[in-house]
Amino acid sequence: MKWIKFPLITLAIFSLAISLVSAYDPSPLQDFCVAINNLKDDSKDIIEDKSKGPFDVYTNGKFCKSPKLTNPNDFFSSGLNSPGDTNNPLGSSVTTLNVDNFGGLNTLGLSLVRIDYAPNGVNPPHSHPRASEILALTVGTLYVGFVSSAQDGNRLYAKVLNAGDLFVFPIGLVHFEFNIGKTPVVAFTVLNSQNPGLATTANTVFGSNPPINPDILAKAFKLDKKIVENLQKQRFGVHLFLNSSTKAKKNKKKNTLILARYHILNIEKKMKGMHYLLAVATLAVAASVVSAYDPRLNIPGNTMNPVGSNVTTVNVGTLPGLNTLGISLVRIDYAPYGQNPPHTHPRASEILVVVEGTLYVGFVTSNQADGKNLLFTKILNKGDVFVFPIGLIHFQLNIGKTPAVAFAGLSSQNPGVITIANAVFGATPPINADLLARAFRLDKNIVLDLQKQFWSSN
Ligand SMILES: *[C@@H]1O[C@H](CO)[C@@H](O)[C@H](O)[C@H]1NC(C)=O
Ligand SMILES: *[C@@H]1O[C@H](CO)[C@@H](O)[C@H](O)[C@H]1NC(C)=O
Repeated sequence: MKWIKFPLITLAIFSLAISLVSAYDPSPLQDFCVAINNLKDDSKDIIEDKSKGPFDVYTNGKFCKSPKLTNPNDFFSSGLNSPGDTNNPLGSSVTTLNVDNFGGLNTLGLSLVRIDYAPNGVNPPHSHPRASEILALTVGTLYVGFVSSAQDGNRLYAKVLNAGDLFVFPIGLVHFEFNIGKTPVVAFTVLNSQNPGLATTANTVFGSNPPINPDILAKAFKLDKKIVENLQKQRFGVHLFLNSSTKAKKNKKKNTLILARYHILNIEKKMKGMHYLLAVATLAVAASVVSAYDPRLNIPGNTMNPVGSNVTTVNVGTLPGLNTLGISLVRIDYAPYGQNPPHTHPRASEILVVVEGTLYVGFVTSNQADGKNLLFTKILNKGDVFVFPIGLIHFQLNIGKTPAVAFAGLSSQNPGVITIANAVFGATPPINADLLARAFRLDKNIVLDLQKQFWSSN
């Protein structure tokens, strides 16, 4: 049966490869694990020997807060509506929500950044060792780019972005952004790590501590040694301060000056730039999946449908450059009182930021040991952020009188959506009605009636 072996092995290797590339952070082993930065934060759970001072214990990640103490505020952050201060040598400001100031992100493989650029402001060449990045431009005109590795000939993939455009920066590649317009620019980026890391290229090369031997750098950069030594005397300071979230304030001691500057990668998403994407996509096949569909993230989706919401999705199906990068982005529009009905993403956690309007959002935990399905809800205003852990049922409802808009980053190139009502009552062919009547404690006729409804998806 030799013939069967080969495909099996191929399949095994292939599935291993998929599991390796689909997410860079480890997968959660429970519904959530809200990080505590300091063992003392949750002293009930942690032992501290006062005579020896606090234990300095390091793990690859963070300790979790007791689930009994976890509450909706652990998944909530505010302040991303305020512009950062760009009055610094680089003319840019990065406000970061990562696991250090937003414990709810722990184990979920996501972080979110707001970047402000003054005219001529630059986010200098840098890389994120542990994350790919999608940058979405909301205001202004931005020149962005990344450089591929030697294998691809260190090619520059650069693009001028306007509001509504987005670009992808693959994991670990050196990239930058530059405001070439006359007006301030605002961008949001999503990264598929709770702690993407940041290596600003100039800083790491010429500003390391202690300095790298100048002879090495002189040779590597084909510079006179004097110039290298001079560069090494410069102060490559951080210019980014992270302080917009409530949590950042709470953990101020630890987080003041957590210098963030995370931005990373990007490829690009307007279809007319698709050749850039294709160059990066490892599977040419993905290209055939690209339809004429060209979602522009600055154009509202049509919400004239039964649920009153519309999701514009940028995933590997619409942007092949996302292939293997483990990240995607959506824009969600909500009519007044429109909702994004209860649903799950089987393969991704989600971080959502409200850019317009007021949303009531929530998720429900899985059956806990004590049999409780806890509901975590929150009202979000402009600039507020909420996190939905992977696979948990969640929803959003526009409780305002005006349309609402949110952007959400997801930690998969293809998160999948299961709208609960549709999957349960609208399956094709229908699920046995007796089974559903029993499971949902409904009269069978009601179930049969539900199964006759048309279940539209947004
Ligand atoms: C950051 O914090 C400082 C001092 O607390 C404050 O003056 C400034 O407005 C804050 N910046 C943002 C973007 O919240
Ligand atoms: C969402 O909006 C787009 C663009 O307006 C439209 O083509 C699409 O049909 C809408 N989807 C739904 C479910 O209403």
